Amino acid sequence: MKIIDNLREGYKILKNNSIASYKIDSEILMSRTLEISREELILDLEKKVNFKEREKYLNLINRRKKNEPIAYIISNKSFWRDKFLIDKNVLIPRPDSEHLVEQTLKLIKKKKTKKILDIGVGSGCLTISILKERPYCKCDAIDVSKKALKLAKMNANLHQLADRIKFYKSDVDNFCNDKYDLIISNPPYIKKHKIKYLGVINFEPKIALDGGLDGLEVIRKVISKSKYLLKLNGKLILEIGSDQRYSVTNFLKEKNFFINNIIKDYGKNIRCIVSTKIN
Ligand SMILES: C[S@@+](CC[C@H](N)C(=O)[O-])C[C@H]1O[C@@H](n2cnc3c(N)ncnc32)[C@H](O)[C@@H]1O
Repeated sequence: MKIIDNLREGYKILKNNSIASYKIDSEILMSRTLEISREELILDLEKKVNFKEREKYLNLINRRKKNEPIAYIISNKSFWRDKFLIDKNVLIPRPDSEHLVEQTLKLIKKKKTKKILDIGVGSGCLTISILKERPYCKCDAIDVSKKALKLAKMNANLHQLADRIKFYKSDVDNFCNDKYDLIISNPPYIKKHKIKYLGVINFEPKIALDGGLDGLEVIRKVISKSKYLLKLNGKLILEIGSDQRYSVTNFLKEKNFFINNIIKDYGKNIRCIVSTKIN
């Protein structure tokens, strides 16, 4: 059977299972099967696919049919300017988190040396993207998940940053290592009872999403701890849920942070807050 015939079959299976991105997903999964780029695939649609390749492709289509995110199936995801290894132990990097990277880069001049802390490093996508753009900065990165840290270390190695990132398995509550110029964090911020409606929970780790009863449990911990871990005038760059603006800004003010900037995401929802520790 030719590539084109297998693709058509993939389109049909995914479409019948309400996968809106059925076309691009089938193509990505076929590229993955044949270990060629999507461009190469499109240029060679008449090529024959052997029995083993077809079996592998249909197996991937079958996983996607059950709504497994494509990033977990192909084990990587593009974020900012790079690709990151991804597995089921980490949150899939979201395009909206690129705002956090952008805001952080705005605060650090290209040749400046800054010490950064990433709370809840996950795959490492935030820290790695920032360090690649700011060659004189270093980062400490913490996570409660040992398995997430393992993957973040693999990504750090892959991007040749192992000597500029130190990883710690720690709850933010217990972490006390140094004083930082900047703290970045995309903590879990979904209300516990809402997680089941997200659909992703069958695949993404609960620990990366669950913000407790009001969604703010880890955010509050991050802010309280940042008060001690930041240098005076240090910056906290925090990703939040779109409905958390007022509770988070009030809490920041209570802890003597000055609010510098509130940033909307690509969907025009509030997504990121930049603040300064002022005393
Ligand atoms: C929303 S994910 C963010 C991952 C990654 N930084 C990103 O932006 O894609 C949150 C991460 O925080 C970690 N985490 C959850 N609770 C934590 C805590 N109390 N202390 C430290 N890390 C925590 C989770 O294991 C998860 O990797």
